[in-house]
Amino acid sequence: MADEVLIRPYQDGDPIPEITAMLHRAYAPLAAAGMRYLATHQDDATTLRRLTDGYSLVAECGGRVVGVISAYWGSPEEHCSYYRRENLVYFGQFGVDPSMQGMGLGRKLYNAIEDYVRCQGAKEIALDTSERATDLISLYRAWGFEVVGEVRWHEVNYRSVVMAKPMNV
Ligand SMILES: CC(C)(COP(=O)(O)OP(=O)(O)OC[C@H]1O[C@@H](n2cnc3c(N)ncnc32)[C@H](O)[C@@H]1OP(=O)(O)O)[C@@H](O)C(=O)NCCC(=O)NCCS
Repeated sequence: MADEVLIRPYQDGDPIPEITAMLHRAYAPLAAAGMRYLATHQDDATTLRRLTDGYSLVAECGGRVVGVISAYWGSPEEHCSYYRRENLVYFGQFGVDPSMQGMGLGRKLYNAIEDYVRCQGAKEIALDTSERATDLISLYRAWGFEVVGEVRWHEVNYRSVVMAKPMNV
């Protein structure tokens, strides 16, 4: 019988190097397409920081971490001006192991983070991604997001679009 997938909050002791390696594998096609997302090459300290700065969920299967998503409350100090809005949560570090992609796990992780942030009282959920990642932009549109702006991060080699979705939808 196939191992079940469990989605649960990140916890101390989860294997950071394994999660970093999984993210590198998941994001490798984006790197191959010339988009140097942070998750294509981030080190373990960055993975840990991105997991613990906000609220993170991991997907576990057969004792392995096969997916992750992290969500953060916006604040007035944000570099991205859209993320300074009140009652806004944005997510990132979103990846599923290539061996498990296309089986509905990414959607489940996203739904779980959306449920969590709605329960926390967020009015809006947002994300940013490369303006060149047209398949991802289409995917997020299908999930109810609209492009609301753009942002330039110094650590990546592309301009990003910012997308958002009201939580009452
Ligand atoms: C994006 C990602 C997390 C989706 O996870 P997944 O488990 O493959 O997704 P699901 O099986 O739940 O599929 C959800 C939808 O995404 C689509 N999809 C899957 N991978 C996709 C990709 N790389 N680009 C565009 N669409 C994709 C599926 O066709 C599906 O569409 P549907 O809802 O109309 O059926 C995963 O493909 C991944 O890790 N990609 C690399 C990292 C990445 O792009 N992260 C997001 C950066 S903003």
